[in-house]
Formats: sequence, structure tokens, C-alpha cells
Amino acid sequence: MTDRYAVMGNPVAHSKSPRIHTLFARQTGQDMDYTAIRVEPAGLASAVGEFHANGGRGLNITVPFKEDAWALAVQRSERAELAGAVNTLVLDAAGKHFGDNTDGVGLVRDLTLNHGCALTGKRLLLVGAGGAAQGVIEPLLTEHPALLVVANRTAAKAVALARRFCGLGRIEGCGLDGPDGQSFDVIINATAASLSGTVPALPASVVSADTWCYDMMYGDEPTAFVRWGRERGAAHSVDGLGMLVEQAAESFYLWRDVRPDTGPVIAELRNQ
Ligand code: ATR
Repeated sequence: MTDRYAVMGNPVAHSKSPRIHTLFARQTGQDMDYTAIRVEPAGLASAVGEFHANGGRGLNITVPFKEDAWALAVQRSERAELAGAVNTLVLDAAGKHFGDNTDGVGLVRDLTLNHGCALTGKRLLLVGAGGAAQGVIEPLLTEHPALLVVANRTAAKAVALARRFCGLGRIEGCGLDGPDGQSFDVIINATAASLSGTVPALPASVVSADTWCYDMMYGDEPTAFVRWGRERGAAHSVDGLGMLVEQAAESFYLWRDVRPDTGPVIAELRNQ
């Protein structure tokens, strides 16, 4: 029987995950089916229960249910524990659902392996302090940057995150104007600003001619943050489509114990 997988979220109709996992399954010869399921607010637990009862083997969880999925998981990986959010559930026959978070490793793989952007020993600026930012801090610090500055519109949230993760590496939290006068090797946008076509109000100094700008969001057109980086003369300014494919590959590996080749899938999505 074909194994069933799905992504749950709201909204979820435009998710690229079914396309990505279908391409992975075809490439690796795995007999599996992957759909998108829209879940009503507060409805995650019953939706997961129903999916599991109908033979579901694993789930991706997207906005706004990643914290709910964290609470639902009976066991969690260390990285999910630190992220405070779960984007992947492995559904166990006995109902002991395992929760993991593959977003951070997806970001790091896309930056380092696909783009060739080194993080070790570099000065990193992470913009935003919501769930998306929180999910990538531990994997970024694991790369041993010289410094990770978290800058957020609400400074107190960035300061609190820096305090929470300070045992893992050199990390500082501040408001958006906090980095004034400093420049960074890599600037990662983890805010929701791109959704409304705006860009966080960062000081001009942060971008130099060697800087990488990376937007965790993506779109058919360059995002506002990608355009912002280009306009300020960053060496590279790229969106997060590769991160999406890499986090999916890591989920696929957890479910199927097979690692798909992400390059052709990223290329195919770009060409669509
Ligand atoms: P997510 O789970 O996607 O991170 P979130 O937890 O609501 O969503 O966090 C959204 C992040 O985007 C926050 O860091 C938010 O800043 P505040 O903490 O000050 O609200 C940031 N954000 C949203 N719109 C923004 C904008 N127009 N400019 C700058 N930051 C913005």
C-alpha cells in the first residue's frame, strides 16, 4: 500500500511541499503519496489523529501550527526542543509521534552547500525574533560564527532570544538600529515583513560589497528584501526557495531514510 504523507497548515493551498515531495519520491523510487491539508485553528490534534488513523506515516507542519505540533509530539529531537517548534512529525504505529525541526538545517545547508556561503568565523545578522528566527539560531551557532547579532523591531524579544541561546555561542540581541555603524558578512531576514512587501528598517552600514543577503521568504519575483540587498550593493542577495527544498529533504530523510538530491528539484521549481 502507498504510504501517506501531508503538510498541514492554514493557509496551505499554495504550499510547494506536495510538489517537492512528489519530485523526491519519483527521483528516489519511493512509493508514497503527499497532499496538503488545511486545518482549522485549534484543530491540529484532531487532524493529526484522523490522518494517523487513516494510515498516515508522517507530516510537515507549517504556519500557524508549529508550536502546537511541538506540544503534540511525545518525543522531540534536541533541535526541535531548542527551536520550540516542530515542522516534521514522524507518526509512529503506537501513537508516540516524534517531532523534529528541519528549518534550521535547511537554511544552513542552502547557504553553505548550495550557495557556497561560509558561516564559520563570520559576522551574522539575523533580523527578526519570532518563531522563524528562533528556529534557526541553534543551527547557525553550531556553524561557529564569530558573532550572531539578532536584531528585531521589538528589541526586548531579540535580547530575550540572545539570553536564551547564549550558552551555544557568541550572540547579542538589539533593536533594528542596534547594528548602526557595523557591517556583516551575512544578513538573514527572518521577519514577516516580506509578506507585506516591506523591509525591516536596518541602518545602511550593515551591507558592504562582500555581504550576503538571504531572505527566508521566497516568491515568483525577487522579494522586497532581496531587492533591498541588491540595491545596496550586496555581493549576493538571494531568497529562501533553496531552504524550503532543503528542509523538505531533511524531513524526507527522517521518514524514508533516503536522502534526495535537492539540486534538480530546486532547479525545476525555479523554472516553473
Ligand atoms: P514567524 O513565526 O514567521 O517568525 P512571528 O512570530 O509573528 O512570525 O514573528 C514575526 C517577526 O517579523 C517578528 O520578529 C516581527 O517583529 P516584532 O517582534 O517587532 O513584531 C517581524 N516583523 C513583522 N513585520 C515587520 C516589519 N514590517 N518590519 C520589521 N519587522 C517585522
